[in-house]
This record gives sequence, structure tokens and C-alpha cells, in this order.
Amino acid sequence: MSDAEPVRTITCTVNGGLRTATVPVRTSLADFLRETLGLTGTHLGCEEGQCGACTVLSDGRTVRACLLLAVQADGTVIETIEGANTSGRLADLQEAFHVRGALQCGFCTSGILLTADAMLSEGNALERADIRAGLTGHICRCTGYQAIVDAIADIGAARSAASD
Ligand code: FES
Ligand code: FES
Repeated sequence: MSDAEPVRTITCTVNGGLRTATVPVRTSLADFLRETLGLTGTHLGCEEGQCGACTVLSDGRTVRACLLLAVQADGTVIETIEGANTSGRLADLQEAFHVRGALQCGFCTSGILLTADAMLSEGNALERADIRAGLTGHICRCTGYQAIVDAIADIGAARSAASD
């Protein structure tokens, strides 16, 4: 009997491009993105769903890439921080993070930006309590969160005003 780990071929859309790869069935989505596709903006911290560093968008919803298997991404649409950044969609949020000093080491930032992007997607201003609730499960060891909430609130208000 062979001890070789079974593999499966998957196809998914990543940052707008169709990607096909053959992966061991126990490969996490995070490892697939980082090691197979070279998308290292998806960070790995706890690897057990606690820190939020590995957050990506799957079919438009935030997921923890360390908790999913790559095979579960078969047929889905994945967006990582690289894709969101290239789209230009995060430019105002990134500027607000810079202005507010909402990052230091940056390890948590790509995941938080994608969660903020999802929170802000309807263009509504958000209450600070809603922002804090939305950031539950994102651990930032540097900033104390206040500046992150400030930055997201700034952009929520700005986008809401722009859509009036
Ligand atoms: S690395 Fe996925 S939640 Fe921490
Ligand atoms: S900026 Fe360092 S962990 Fe958040």
C-alpha cells in the first residue's frame, strides 16, 4: 500500500485569473495561495482560525484561509490582498490607515483591510461599535485597534457622503 498523500486537481479564480493546480488534499487554502501561487500577502499567524491574518475573500465573503482546504476552493472565486490592491479599491482605506497610523509591523493589515473592505462594501457609514464587532477575530499586537477603527470609520463616512 502506498503512503503517498492523495492529490486532487482544482480550478479556481484567483484575483481575476483562472488557476488550475494539483494539490495534496490536506493542503490548506493559505498554503496553496502562498506556496503554490506565491501570494504571500496572505499572512499566516496562528494557523488555527484565531488571529485573522490569513483572511481572504471567497465568493465575496471573508474566510480564514488557514481553516479551509485548497480543495474546498475548487470552483470558487478567491481574492487576496494582492488582487484587492491591484483593483485600486482599497486606495482610500490604505491612505486612511497611513494617515491614522493604523499599522505598525503590518502583519495583521492585509487581513484587516479585506475585512474592512467587506464591511464597507455597501457604502454605508459604520458605527464604531459595528466596526469593532466586524474586527472580532483580528488580532493586532501593535496598534491597540483605536487607529484602525478610526481609519475605517473615516472611510465609511467619506464613502457614505460621496454616495448621497
Ligand atoms: S493564520 Fe488563519 S486565523 Fe490565524
Ligand atoms: S500592525 Fe503589527 S500586528 Fe497589527
